[in-house]
Amino acid sequence: VFQPGRGAERTFVAVKPDALQRRLLGDIVRRFERKGFRLVAMKLVQASEDLLSEHYFALRDRPFYNHLVKYMSSGPVVAMVWQGLDVVKTARAMIGETNPADSRPGTIRGDFCIEVGKNVIHGSDSIESARREISLWFREDELICWEDHAEHWIH
Ligand code: TYD
Repeated sequence: VFQPGRGAERTFVAVKPDALQRRLLGDIVRRFERKGFRLVAMKLVQASEDLLSEHYFALRDRPFYNHLVKYMSSGPVVAMVWQGLDVVKTARAMIGETNPADSRPGTIRGDFCIEVGKNVIHGSDSIESARREISLWFREDELICWEDHAEHWIH
């Protein structure tokens, strides 16, 4: 069982169908890698409406909910878990605001999109929701604990 300690916090990130359509996956993954976070799980998923209704349970009464579920199931998403110090908060800062119009240039939404209804990426908004979302999207054995072995191949 994963014991979150200092530097071992985890967050759930999903690259949304519009980003896959637009071939932005590599650019987005690159930002998390270069920031220094550790990828511990990743898969291409055609999300079902059941999975999405669990994922967006808190938003079920909002006017945009049906549109949101339709969009999120319109094509595959890439589900990921990233690990590292303060990764929940930092990933949200890297992603930007919910509405791309409020997102600063330099953030993922600030750089790659215009519409709130097609905002290219999801990131957990708290450690609690990260825990819930990771266990919703991944089985325990899909989360890979791996170490750095740089000392063996850098001379
Ligand atoms: P929310 O969880 O509030 O935002 P975030 O993704 O930044 O955590 O909303 C989930 C998604 O719902 C959001 O990414 C895009 C969509 N959405 C709309 O389409 N219209 C809206 O007015 C809001 C608030 C969200």
